[in-house]
Amino acid sequence: MIVCVCRRVSDREIARHARAGMSFDEIQFELGVATQCGCCEDSARDVVAQCCSSQPVAALYKETGPKDAALAKCCQEGTSCHCSQA
Ligand code: FES
Repeated sequence: MIVCVCRRVSDREIARHARAGMSFDEIQFELGVATQCGCCEDSARDVVAQCCSSQPVAALYKETGPKDAALAKCCQEGTSCHCSQA
């Protein structure tokens, strides 16, 4: 489903980037989502948040790597996802 009509960005594309550990701001910079009219920002942020909260924390630890551990920490703390800054 297209989330950002202005930039033609889909929820799948946003989710793929979020699962790779990118924060909303990084995804926005990379894909241009919510950079024109801004109507899609809430929906795009929801996709990123759902992506973080749907990741099983235990599985993230098993995948190893600093980004996975940072993402797991974000999920446990319920904070916004800035996983790629780890
Ligand atoms: S719909 Fe995303 S910036 Fe306009």
